[in-house]
Amino acid sequence: MDKPMFAHRNRYYLTSKLIFWFTIFIFLILLYCLRSCFYYYSSSNRPRHILQSGWDSLVAQSATPADPDCNLSILVTGAAGFVGFHVSLALKKRGDGVVGVDNFNRYYDPSLKRDRAKILERNGVFVVEADINDSELLEKLLSIGKFTHVVHLAAQAGVRYAMKNPDSYIHSNIAGLISVLESIKSANPQPALIWASSSSVYGLNSKVPFSEKDRTDQPASLYAATKKAGEEIAHAYNHIYGISITGLRFFTVYGPWGRPDMAYFSFTKDILKRKRIMIYEGPNQRSVARDFTYVDDIVKGCLAALDTAEKSTGSGGKKTGPAQLRVYNLGNTSPVMVKKLVSILEKLLKVEARKQVLPMPRNGDVMFTHANLSLAETELGYKPTTDLQTGLKNFVKWYLYYYYFQSEKSVM
Ligand SMILES: NC(=O)c1ccc[n+]([C@@H]2O[C@H](COP(=O)([O-])OP(=O)(O)OC[C@H]3O[C@@H](n4cnc5c(N)ncnc54)[C@H](O)[C@@H]3O)[C@@H](O)[C@H]2O)c1
Repeated sequence: MDKPMFAHRNRYYLTSKLIFWFTIFIFLILLYCLRSCFYYYSSSNRPRHILQSGWDSLVAQSATPADPDCNLSILVTGAAGFVGFHVSLALKKRGDGVVGVDNFNRYYDPSLKRDRAKILERNGVFVVEADINDSELLEKLLSIGKFTHVVHLAAQAGVRYAMKNPDSYIHSNIAGLISVLESIKSANPQPALIWASSSSVYGLNSKVPFSEKDRTDQPASLYAATKKAGEEIAHAYNHIYGISITGLRFFTVYGPWGRPDMAYFSFTKDILKRKRIMIYEGPNQRSVARDFTYVDDIVKGCLAALDTAEKSTGSGGKKTGPAQLRVYNLGNTSPVMVKKLVSILEKLLKVEARKQVLPMPRNGDVMFTHANLSLAETELGYKPTTDLQTGLKNFVKWYLYYYYFQSEKSVM
């Protein structure tokens, strides 16, 4: 074999080897990029729905009212929650376009939230799985949906959990509220906002019944403090950006599809399981009392607030004039002692409770709540109609079906 021929072949092998390894190298880089991309979408907090094709047309369809001339288009945050579920269904039933947002967090059993969401989806309400702190997503939703109103119910609820996980209250009730307000501020047109504050803002106030004019500067829990902060934040956004805002102070809402962390719910569970229940009382055996409000009454109050809300005056971040700012109590005006609640449950469940009476620990709970409803009655036409006996009967019926006899299909 002559030398030049050998050198030529050698060069040829070297070049093909180089090309081979270079191709492998490029392939590995591409693979790495693809993997990182996939990892970003699947492991970050990006909502699952974003990955579905046709996601935006589902949002647009769900936001479209039955009759655009007389129905509204509403974004409901916390739609898979207790109140959000009932409000979304009621709005959809009257012909409004409704889109829900919920992060399905694990504060209580998420399968209950999933079951509520399934019912909403069967009724034509699309629920986007996302955190309200995802401002990019909120802005996208507001631009697709062209919502007239936002009903903001997503929050970290519950008073006692703040001692375990204070950050969750800051995340959802402070940062989350600001994220919602920022998205509304930039939207064009700006939707009006109706949001859930709480009776807990009255804190240690001892003047009864609680009126919207009473002081709210003595919160007894971090939850109450975040709701009070929310009312102040709402004031600032209304003042600077012309967002029409209505805050609703709910008083102990109960009913079917309720929240498992609330006393009426956990008492029912424990009474049926023959487990001991703790009933707390104040100094000198003073009973704890609550202004229990049936969820259908709360829904009527929310809808009345929506229907009387004026338009925001801002657009694209600029205010053009003063905008409406309101706060209402939504309660029941008839506080009931917790002992009485237990005796109604005992009769409905036909089981005697194993009660243990203990002094109330300092965990954020207050001794009593009692709503003055004159303002809501005059301006919203709000009049609760369900007494505790009737409301608990409906709740117990739902509870037994849901947990003992059937799946979600038969309980609506
Ligand atoms: N139920 C009551 O007795 C009562 C009383 C006073 C005020 N409120 C207020 O009413 C509203 C609704 O309460 P509820 O009883 O239906 O509570 P809920 O916990 O059942 O509903 C809240 C929903 O919001 C969702 N959520 C929480 N943080 C979120 C976040 N960062 N992003 C997206 N979704 C999030 C949760 O997953 C949940 O589904 C809350 O603002 C609550 O503070 C309720």
